[in-house]
Amino acid sequence: MSQHLSDAPRSAAAPAADAGHRDWWRDAVIYQVYPRSFADGNGDGMGDLPGVTARLPYLRDLGVDAVWLSPFYASPQADAGYDVADYREVDPMFGDLNDADDLVRTAHALNLRVIVDLVPNHCSDQHEWFKQALRDGPGSALRERFHFRPGKGAGGELPPNDWESIFGGPAWTRTTDPDGTPGEWYLHLFAPEQPDFNWDHPAVHDEFRSVLRFWLDLGTDGFRIDVAHGLVKAAGLPDIGHSEQLSLLGSAPMPYFDQDGVHEIYRGWRRILDEYPGDRIGVAEAWTPTIERAALYLRPDELHQAFNFEYLGTPWDAAALRRVIDKSLAAMGAVGAPATWVLSNHDVTRHTTRFGNPSSALPGGASTGGSLQLREAGDRELGLRRARAATLLMLALPGSAYLYQGEELGLPDVTDLPDEVRQDPSFFRAAGQDGFRDGCRVPIPWSGAEPPYGFGPAGGPSWLPQPATWAELSVEAQTGDPASTLELYRAALALRRELPALGAGRSVQWLDTPEGVLAFRRDGDGDGFLCLVNLTATPVVLTVPGGRPLLASSAQPPATAGPSDQVDGIDVTIAADTAIWWAI
Ligand code: GLC
Repeated sequence: MSQHLSDAPRSAAAPAADAGHRDWWRDAVIYQVYPRSFADGNGDGMGDLPGVTARLPYLRDLGVDAVWLSPFYASPQADAGYDVADYREVDPMFGDLNDADDLVRTAHALNLRVIVDLVPNHCSDQHEWFKQALRDGPGSALRERFHFRPGKGAGGELPPNDWESIFGGPAWTRTTDPDGTPGEWYLHLFAPEQPDFNWDHPAVHDEFRSVLRFWLDLGTDGFRIDVAHGLVKAAGLPDIGHSEQLSLLGSAPMPYFDQDGVHEIYRGWRRILDEYPGDRIGVAEAWTPTIERAALYLRPDELHQAFNFEYLGTPWDAAALRRVIDKSLAAMGAVGAPATWVLSNHDVTRHTTRFGNPSSALPGGASTGGSLQLREAGDRELGLRRARAATLLMLALPGSAYLYQGEELGLPDVTDLPDEVRQDPSFFRAAGQDGFRDGCRVPIPWSGAEPPYGFGPAGGPSWLPQPATWAELSVEAQTGDPASTLELYRAALALRRELPALGAGRSVQWLDTPEGVLAFRRDGDGDGFLCLVNLTATPVVLTVPGGRPLLASSAQPPATAGPSDQVDGIDVTIAADTAIWWAI
C-alpha cells in the first residue's frame, strides 16, 4: 500500500521537544488518550492510568509531543467521565492520585507533556455541591451555584424555558423537594446527570481556579477545556423560540453558547497558567459558529489553542479543504495563535469511516451544523486510503495537530455494536444529537490474535466488544510493515520533527493545481517542502521543480518512485486519493 519513497530516517529516535522549549505547543502533535479504551492494567475490562503509563514508551516512539487524557476523575460515568463528582480525585476504575502522579512523571521522563481534561460547564449530579443543593431546597445558598428555577405553568409543571439538551429532550429536569413534592427545575445542557454550574457565582470561579492549581501543582502541562464555549449563559436564560437547537456545532447563535462573558474567565485562567514554569497551556473545546469566533478564545491573554472543528467536519474535497485551511490560518494568525488540525476524537465517527462514505452522508459540516456521526461502515478500503492521505495533509500544515488514539492504526468506527453494549448517554435519549459515539470508543488492539488483543490480559474482558477482524490492525501486526498505517504515522512524525520547513511560523504557499488536487510549499532555512494531494479518483501528474520524494500515503506508479536529486522539472504521478511529501 504505502511506499516510503526515500531512505529518510524512520525511527522516532528524535526526542520530544525538550522540557525548556518555549512555545512547544505552537507546532506540537498532541495524542488523545481515551483512558477507558487505551490499555487495561488490571484486567477488569476498563482501561486505566497504570495501563496508560505502561504504554507511554509507545507514544514516545510514535513521535508525538504530548498526550491529552480524557477525564479520569471520580465520576458515576453517566457520560463516560464527563460527569465529574470530584475534580481532585481519580476514579477507582482508573486508579488513584499516585497513579496520576506516576503517569505525569513517567511522561516527563520520556519528554512527553501531559494535558488533562477540565470539565467546568457542568459536574455530576453526585458532586457534593449538587447533592447538598438538592437537600437544602429552594432558596438555599448551594442552589445558587447551579441554575435552579421554578417551572412555568400553573403548578410549575413546565420547564423554565425552551432549551433542549445536546443529548436530546429538554435541558431541564424537575427536582423533588425534601418533603417529597415536585419542586424546582435545574438546567443541564447535556444529560440530566450533568447539572450546569452557574458561572455568575464567585464560588464557582474560586473552585475552578483551585482545581487548576491542583493539577498544575501535580505537574500537568495544561488543560483541554470541555465545552469551553458554554460556561456563561445569556442573562435571564431567554427562550430561543424554535427547536432546531440540537447541534453542538451549529451556525446559529444560542443563548447558552459562545457568550462574550466567557472570555473574562479564560483571561483569569491564563494568569494562573502563566504563574507556573514551563509553558502550561489551555485548549478550548469551543464549538463556535465560525472559526473567527474560535480565534477570540486565543487572544494573547486568553487560551493557547482551540480545536478546529470546522476542519474536522470538512469532507474529502479539495476546494472545501483549501478554503477551511486558508480561513483557519488567517483567523488564528490574526490573534497570533497557531492553527490546529484534527480529524477524529471521542465524539465523532472516526475519519477512516467518514471518508469511506459519500460525503453527502456526513450530515452537515461546521457551517451547516449537525451531527458528525455516521452509522454506515461505508467503503473501508477507500476510507483508509483517504484517511492516510488526509493524515499526511494534516501533518504538513503549520500549527498543532491532534491525533485520536487508534487513528495511527487506521481503525474504523465500529458501526455494528449491539445496542445492549452501548453506553453513550445520548443513545438512550431519543432525537439526541449523537447517540453513536461508542463506535469510536472501542478499546484499541495492541497484539495477539483474539480479543482483547493485548488491551488487557489474554482472555480478559473489554468494556465494549472489539471486532473479530482487529488482529491485523494491532500495533504488533503493523510494526515493521512499511505498508502499514502505523509505520506511515511513525515516518511522518519523524520527518515532521526533522524538517525545519514543517516547524512553527513557516507559511503555506499554494501552487496552481488542477481541480481536485492540492499542492503547497513550505520553506525552512534553505530547504523546501512540498505537500501534494490528489483528492480525485484517478491519477494526476504534477510537475515539481526538482527534489526528491519523502513519503507517500499509498503505493506510487514506478515512474515516480526513484529519487531524482537535483533534476529540474520532474513529473510526479500522484495516485488516486493519495498525498506525497516531497523535498526540494
Ligand atoms: C464534550 C465532550 C463530550 C461530552 C460533552 C459533555 O463535548 O467531548 O464527550 O459528552 O462535552 O461533557
